[in-house]
Amino acid sequence: MSEIAATFEKYAAQIKEARELRALDDIRVAALGKKGEVSKMMQGLGKMSIDEKKVMGPALNGLKKDIASLIETRKEALENEALDAALASETMDMSLPVGAKAGTLHPVSQVMEEMAVIFSDMGFSAAEGPDIEDDFHNFTALNFPKGHPARDMHDTFFMTPDSEGEQKVLRTHTSPVQIRTMIKDKPPIRIIAPGRTYRCDSDQTHTPMFHQVEGLVIDKGIHMGHLKGVLMDFMSAFFETDVDVQFRPHHFPFTEPSAEMDVRYERVGSAIKIGQGEKWMEILGCGMVHPNVLRACGLDPDEYQGFAFGMGVDRLAMLKYGMPDLRDMFAADTRWLGHYGFNPLLQANLATGLS
Ligand code: DAH
Repeated sequence: MSEIAATFEKYAAQIKEARELRALDDIRVAALGKKGEVSKMMQGLGKMSIDEKKVMGPALNGLKKDIASLIETRKEALENEALDAALASETMDMSLPVGAKAGTLHPVSQVMEEMAVIFSDMGFSAAEGPDIEDDFHNFTALNFPKGHPARDMHDTFFMTPDSEGEQKVLRTHTSPVQIRTMIKDKPPIRIIAPGRTYRCDSDQTHTPMFHQVEGLVIDKGIHMGHLKGVLMDFMSAFFETDVDVQFRPHHFPFTEPSAEMDVRYERVGSAIKIGQGEKWMEILGCGMVHPNVLRACGLDPDEYQGFAFGMGVDRLAMLKYGMPDLRDMFAADTRWLGHYGFNPLLQANLATGLS
């Protein structure tokens, strides 16, 4: 075999074997690069006789062209392989209908967002606690001593006692987050605590799992006027209309004095309109944090005071958006969600409207 034919065979075999573009380029440099094998063979032409040149010149040019063309063909094949691999790994379903409803935000999530927007505008931040609580945070520190009758009113779900005999509960309210926050952080404190709560109860207006938002403000010189101002402003912002409210004396173990807040409403046909009207509807519980609660968290009641409030998120959602039965909220019925759900891309916002 002539030297030219042998060189061609050698590179043809290497090109066929090349698995990557990088390897292929290395072969190109080794054969056709300035210092490559074929280029060196071409430099040898200068020392040849005219007759030799006549034969070898076109032959070497042919060799150069043939190798370059093999490299080009292999390069295309490798590029196509890479494209096929990318297409296979990055699939997209082009048959998905355009503009189909891509799911909706649950009204509870929507209302939680709305509350967070209103309270964050007033300088509150959000705090969280566990759904499975211990007796201390859910009851004792909130001034429900063992055997206190108010404990029975909570229809508590009790967990099986652990190996040390400790019996945890599914938290019956979000108030334990008050305790966790006061123990962890120094005043001034201004938090809301949204979350799931649990009580053994089920009818048109009760579900065993429901949602509450707790509020807590602790600082020096806090009084009931601050509490009233915050809650009145909240109600008008939330219902997006002027809302008349009244405070009635009440009892909660963890606040003193305690109150329930009512809002005015009227019935228009089967709908309930919140804001004005002849009737009052109870909407939340609140009060000044009890000195015993402050002490349980290591705060001196002579130095710090505060107020707290708690409200049912699901009930507020029902009232604002007109849902008749609380149980439907957690039935996971997509028709219900399609009807009452919210566009997940439109975020609640005080400037352009909450919903
Ligand atoms: N924890 C109460 C409940 O679930 C609600 C509540 C009432 C929370 C008054 C408060 C409060 O912080 O001050 O029934």
